[in-house]
Amino acid sequence: MAASTTSTRSPGAAGRAAAEEGGRGLTTNRAAFIEKARGQGELFIHQPYELYSEENQETWRRLYGGIAPKWRKYAHPLFLQGVDQLALNPERIPRLEKINEFLEPLSAFESKAVSGYVPAFLFFDCLRRREFPTTITIRDGARLDYLPEPDIFHDLAGHVPMHTDRRFSDVLVRFGEVARTAALDVQKIGDHDRRLRSVESVIKAMARFFWFTVEFGLMRRPDGDSLCVYGSGLLSSAGEIQHAVESPDVQRFPFQLEWVVNQYFEIDHYQPLLFFVDDFDHLFREVDALERWVREGRLYNVSPGEPAINEHDLDSFLEAAH
Ligand SMILES: [Fe+2]
Repeated sequence: MAASTTSTRSPGAAGRAAAEEGGRGLTTNRAAFIEKARGQGELFIHQPYELYSEENQETWRRLYGGIAPKWRKYAHPLFLQGVDQLALNPERIPRLEKINEFLEPLSAFESKAVSGYVPAFLFFDCLRRREFPTTITIRDGARLDYLPEPDIFHDLAGHVPMHTDRRFSDVLVRFGEVARTAALDVQKIGDHDRRLRSVESVIKAMARFFWFTVEFGLMRRPDGDSLCVYGSGLLSSAGEIQHAVESPDVQRFPFQLEWVVNQYFEIDHYQPLLFFVDDFDHLFREVDALERWVREGRLYNVSPGEPAINEHDLDSFLEAAH
């Protein structure tokens, strides 16, 4: 948080505080610019590029340098193509407006800077409009591979290269359409408590589906003999990407909708269970199936457990139809 200047503080002290704040740049959880935006209720913001500190740029360089060789070995070929098409710079944090210049002609997708957490329905609805809420802060350089929340490396280097592919971007749009279907369908449930339980369950199911595909998904390589990575959580973790594909400690199963929507996950350690799809057409068909399950009311009592659904997520779905 930015220190507030009070009448009891000398101009010198205030100046030093400001300088310290400026030195923190746009580091996750320590960026005064972000705290201010949140305080003013601004979710969609601009990327104040001049605020990135040299330390922030160094963090990007180290993250990129650590993972680029692993991308070449484990990432989906369309992800690698996307990295080239976006002209990602290994040395400097990207400017969103430059990324969007490359991205929009390819898939009509756009990265939009946000100040933090986007409630579930709003997030999915952005995808429906081909907008990707993008975190602009970067993690603390002292803890490179620990990431309890998204940062610009996860969002831009992990997610956005896949958005260059039209078919993958259509999957994201379809996800947004499923959210809209779910939000409208739960409105039809008359009993208030049942409506609340149902919407919580359907958000949980969607979050699990998203987690085991867009965030941590694996895919068969075209030769069928091995797996590659298209999930952004893996594509932004130099440690986990290799573990996900090669470690005997990971269970890897063909994607099964009935399993995935009932499978809890934890975010604070490497994933012991991953699912693979055949190709992006397969993934698209599974999102279609998810929507059918929404319409048939089959997601209103999925297995309890993680992820927790907070009241902002619930409200975002319940208010979506108004
Ligand atoms: Fe993500």
